[in-house]
Amino acid sequence: MSNLSEAELIHMFKGIPFTTRSSLELLKSLDTFDAREDDVLLVSYPKSGTHWLAGVITKLYDPQVTLTSPIEFGDKSNLEELNKLSSKRIIPTHLNYNMLPPNFKNKKCKMIYISRNPKDTAVSMYHYYRDNPNLPTVDTWTAFFDLFLKGDVVCGSWFDHFLSWEEHENDKNILFLFYEDMKKDLPKIVKEISLFLGLHVSDDDIQDICKKSSFSEMKNDTEKENCDSSHTVCSLTSNRRLIFRKGAVGDWKNHFTPKQNQRFEEIFNEKMKLSKMAKSLTYEF
Ligand code: A3P
Repeated sequence: MSNLSEAELIHMFKGIPFTTRSSLELLKSLDTFDAREDDVLLVSYPKSGTHWLAGVITKLYDPQVTLTSPIEFGDKSNLEELNKLSSKRIIPTHLNYNMLPPNFKNKKCKMIYISRNPKDTAVSMYHYYRDNPNLPTVDTWTAFFDLFLKGDVVCGSWFDHFLSWEEHENDKNILFLFYEDMKKDLPKIVKEISLFLGLHVSDDDIQDICKKSSFSEMKNDTEKENCDSSHTVCSLTSNRRLIFRKGAVGDWKNHFTPKQNQRFEEIFNEKMKLSKMAKSLTYEF
């Protein structure tokens, strides 16, 4: 909930709504960003489990690596700061594939894309809109539901974002993960991530990482620490306390009316009709 007007909080770039925390000057200069071959991109539509995944990935590395601020966050000076980092960089982003700096693609940097049942993503984003002063005010779930389906929310349409990345599902340098799979069997997914990143991690270490990455551990850690902008991997806030809400699968059932559910599924089926991945999703719909 914010006291600022929508025009003060949101501006459009290439047809996508961004918060004014991403300056237009920075967004325009992304195309010239200099990627490094060993950069790892952590990609998501907002509210898909980005912080959870970031927590896991950073724990996999020893010696430590730098989890940077999101590439689309701030003004041009942020990109200069990223350029100055000498250590290996894990770079988060909510950009769709088409907006990604071409250098990451040309250098075949490793990228991990995490997605989540869009119904739960919508609910999580609704609460984020209500709690996050950097986002416009939404009065009701019903109003937000319509905005989400129209793609009239930060980062644009969930469907377009997902489809832009899915087109690259066969690219060897991109690993696709699902929030629900992490909930179901985190050790299996952590193993998969470590193999993808070429890291040798023992089973004991994997168990330890999973324990430290549970929702309750991560939420408790956040409540103990001072808020610091370097701690969020979402360009929409620097306040980590806004991130750890419920951490559950299926919360959409507490929000969607049967009519909304039907409308969502009709739109999902239409938009995703050519999506192979959508067919194999094990979302609890
Ligand atoms: P909810 O709002 O449904 O609780 P992101 O990091 O992309 O902003 O996603 C935030 C969502 O991931 C929130 O969902 C948050 O609670 C959930 N999340 C964060 N850490 C988690 C964890 N360790 N386990 C499960 N869910 C987690």
